[in-house]
Amino acid sequence: MEKIIDENKQGESLVLDPNTSNSRKLYIESYGCQMNFSDSEIVASILAKEGFNTTQKLEDADLVLVNTCSIRDKAEQTVRKRLEKFNAVKRTNPKMKVGVLGCMAERLKSKFLEEEKIVDMVVGPDAYKDLPNLVQEIDEGRNAMNVILSKEETYGDVAPVRLNSNGVSAFVSITRGCDNMCTFCVVPFTRGRERSRDPQSILDEVNDLAAKGFKEITLLGQNVDSYLWYGGGLKKDFDKATDIQKATAVGFAGLLEMVAIAQPKMRIRFSTSNPQDMTLDVIETMAKYQNICKYIHLPVQSGSNRILKEMNRLHTREEYFELIDNIRKIIPDCAISQDMITGFPTETEEDHQDTLSLMEYVKYDFGFMFAYSERPGTLAERKMEDDIPEPVKKRRLSEIIALQQKHSHFRTQQHLGKTEEVLIEGTSKKSDAHWMGRNTQNTVVVFPKENYHIGDFVNVKINECTTATLIGEAVGYSENN
Ligand code: SAH
Ligand code: F3S
Repeated sequence: MEKIIDENKQGESLVLDPNTSNSRKLYIESYGCQMNFSDSEIVASILAKEGFNTTQKLEDADLVLVNTCSIRDKAEQTVRKRLEKFNAVKRTNPKMKVGVLGCMAERLKSKFLEEEKIVDMVVGPDAYKDLPNLVQEIDEGRNAMNVILSKEETYGDVAPVRLNSNGVSAFVSITRGCDNMCTFCVVPFTRGRERSRDPQSILDEVNDLAAKGFKEITLLGQNVDSYLWYGGGLKKDFDKATDIQKATAVGFAGLLEMVAIAQPKMRIRFSTSNPQDMTLDVIETMAKYQNICKYIHLPVQSGSNRILKEMNRLHTREEYFELIDNIRKIIPDCAISQDMITGFPTETEEDHQDTLSLMEYVKYDFGFMFAYSERPGTLAERKMEDDIPEPVKKRRLSEIIALQQKHSHFRTQQHLGKTEEVLIEGTSKKSDAHWMGRNTQNTVVVFPKENYHIGDFVNVKINECTTATLIGEAVGYSENN
């Protein structure tokens, strides 16, 4: 997931600040999942109304915000290091204030104010609308904190300020929180219960992006397949909804279809899908609309039924294969990617072999692989001993990474000789003379610039490939232009 963010950053940096008369400067840095990057755009929008424009220069900032991630210990350590840097800058600019947002704010709450003297403000993921009050408090010299989780907040009525945007692709959040309670995961504790956003506000945002010239959106949620709008409220309270609410409820397939029809030229992506919640009608909707990208990020975490159970992933290896078979049957050229964890408590060599054999069956296009990191407060931390030695976790990790490399190369080779539609996102990292974009499967494609522009849909003939990149030449604009 982090990788996708990096690629998106390749585009020319464009900060769309709405108000040129604003005088205070906000510097905002985001870590972790796409949702955090999307949330930072909501925060920038809320603070724009309070007189803040964004700056890319830390030294110039009146207010420094860091949107944090708690998913693994390393993510938290990265943020702590950044706070040290902010501290050094603050010494030269004592008026500068520092705020911590996101999952670490929610997890550590007031401990942050005690542990990190540099921090003036702590704000959890559901409390961003309170920022105007919190900023006023720190302006008056007091520390400020709001970490209350909400049952309703979706920020559906906040029009995000697009940060670090290439003007081509944008995130649109559709659900917040997660009810799945995977035993290793801190997200349900830091982001609260699952709730969905009003489809009309999603459509309004997508239409607005189209009007501004954006060409691709990614619908975001911790678990998009579980999207369910019945007039507001928590997903878990759907049983209590009225008959009319139930009859007019919109699920994820319905939402995808609404967006695909509203903007037939817009590329539509989504992330993340959870195998236990992904239904056939979603796959069928993907197949039906050419503008829905043929790519599914489908984390599985482990190939062992025993470990899946310990993780509280509510499906078996066999059910996962059935889902994969259905995807391949309905969308033969669909790309699939994974998240995987090695060294979950009690994982044996046999369990690890099950993971390798599952990967061999699916042959993922790419993947994001991690060594298990015990997170305070999760069920796994409370009930299980983190008993797999670090070197074993790391060795298993390198084995699955090596296998994924092999499969990625196998997948990129399948594109050789084909002509594929690519949306140009920016200049290639490796060469100023080349564009970088993606095909529908989300594979990066690089080709000579000629007279094409960022945001063009171009047909590219694929001539060469590496494990992660396709290299080709443009043969003309695609019909979608
Ligand atoms: N549904 C979410 C998952 C968020 S976490 C989404 O939108 O992607 C992203 C990935 O981090 C998970 O799929 C998992 O593979 C990994 N992860 C989560 N908790 C972890 C932990 N405690 N240790 C190691 N990896 C973890
Ligand atoms: Fe975490 Fe599982 Fe939800 S990985 S975000 S609890 S689907």
